[in-house]
Amino acid sequence: MKLKKMMTLALTVALGTCVLAGCGGSGDTKAPAEGSTGAESGIPTVTEGKLIMATNAYFPPYEYYEGNEIVGIDAEIAQAIGDKLGLEVEIADMEFDSIITAVQTGKADIGLAGMTVTPEREKNINFSDTYATGIQSVIVKEDSDIKSIDDLQGKKIGVQLSTTGDIFASDDFGAENVEQFNKGNDAVMALTQGKIDAVIIDNQPALSYVAGNKGLQILDTSYVEEEYAACISKENPELLEAVNGALAELERDGIIQSILDKYIVAD
Ligand code: ARG
Repeated sequence: MKLKKMMTLALTVALGTCVLAGCGGSGDTKAPAEGSTGAESGIPTVTEGKLIMATNAYFPPYEYYEGNEIVGIDAEIAQAIGDKLGLEVEIADMEFDSIITAVQTGKADIGLAGMTVTPEREKNINFSDTYATGIQSVIVKEDSDIKSIDDLQGKKIGVQLSTTGDIFASDDFGAENVEQFNKGNDAVMALTQGKIDAVIIDNQPALSYVAGNKGLQILDTSYVEEEYAACISKENPELLEAVNGALAELERDGIIQSILDKYIVAD
């Protein structure tokens, strides 16, 4: 459980920074005048005038396909940031596992994917101020004998590859008991087919998967609490500053909250 403590620590530090930096307060971005591009506003991006967002669009309600279009909380937050910075948003869908590398290697400007801030990831990438919280939940079948986190010992647990659910499950229950899937949805399919006993995944996608598949339920006890943030290359501090400025304004004006409320129904 060492990891969990580290995570709590990282969150405390992140929140502390947020308070100090006045996140949600009167942030002051250099929003360019109407019709100007990010290039004119001096924010370096991979392609001039564009903000390329890397994501994995199988994570409702944060990102998912509606027909051919990727929609959801992160898509709307990226659009709102792009509007503030005068950048046109383009979304690149990829495996979750590839997002940080894509941002590091200049294939994308920003990763927005319901991505949890972790100390391990922070070694490779910068995170913006956080814009949402998540909880790792456990999905089981309705008739399962798994009633608590402890009952997961020795069971087959499905996760999305390289997510925090994957990291925690391997840490707490042994990698040999964890089956990694490319998409959260594939893990849920394996659960409905009885190939695995449980899925550990973020609470909002969990709710959406349970609503879309008969015979599944979410355990009452939550597993780990997390903070979501955008990741940006360590080589691009200008973009990080601009995104944090935009986020602060969007937070202050209630835009972030209204985007969250649109997709997350209070229980
Ligand atoms: N919050 C978890 C993590 O950062 C899962 C994110 C998965 N996101 C996605 N778009 N598939 O590891």
